[in-house]
Amino acid sequence: MRKPFIAGNWKMNTNGAGAKALASGLVGQLSEIDSVDVAVCPPSVYLQSVAKALSSSNIALGAQNMYFESNGAYTGETSAEMLKDVCCTYVIVGHSERRHVLGETDEMVNKKVSTAIGAGLLPILCVGELLEQRQGEETEAVVSRQIKAGLAGLSAEKVEAVTVAYEPVWAIGTGLTATPEQAQEVHLMIRKLLAEIYSESVAADIRIQYGGSAKPGNTAELMACPDVDGLLVGGASLKVDDFAAMIKTVV
Ligand code: 13P
Repeated sequence: MRKPFIAGNWKMNTNGAGAKALASGLVGQLSEIDSVDVAVCPPSVYLQSVAKALSSSNIALGAQNMYFESNGAYTGETSAEMLKDVCCTYVIVGHSERRHVLGETDEMVNKKVSTAIGAGLLPILCVGELLEQRQGEETEAVVSRQIKAGLAGLSAEKVEAVTVAYEPVWAIGTGLTATPEQAQEVHLMIRKLLAEIYSESVAADIRIQYGGSAKPGNTAELMACPDVDGLLVGGASLKVDDFAAMIKTVV
């Protein structure tokens, strides 16, 4: 059985005080929850203060990005080891904003996934099609390519560390959510692909989150889909009550 996994991606939002308050607010509301894995991914400059606020809670810490080299002359970048050092469990890799705004390639994403696992982090590998790709009926081709490239060279044993997040780009921050049918269709396609690449049992174990305008009002219907194992939440994760309500919906 796959344990539900809901993660908040705060993106480039909050400030020092706000990040601490958000984390503490969630700790206050979610202290009893253990049937759902919960993580928050604050901006990297706030990882340490959020880690402190989360200590002695079962909310895990994740980063929004990392670099695939372990140290050296890479101005502005953060290594997997550094993220481990500040208590991160997860790291988001290949978010569509990094792919489409910051020019991250499938090859970089693949290096990041494998470096993250090597350092003991659990990567959340994001995939998803643009609106014009969906309209051109290229969703399956795009998502399959991103999965195959993102996981290239990864053994069955290592891939168990990965969570896949299906985030249709047209649904991110737009208020447009994929219908449960649209989400389930792509999640099932991803699971079948994982079974082809690895095995039925590996595919059955890997969690696939949905992301894209997920909010309290659509959590139950999305989570009712058999292959939707969790959510990667942007905007709604910035409000304690909304994010906590989503998690309580799933408990
Ligand atoms: P929204 O929930 O704001 O649409 O963002 C989704 C997302 O990109 C999470 O990584």
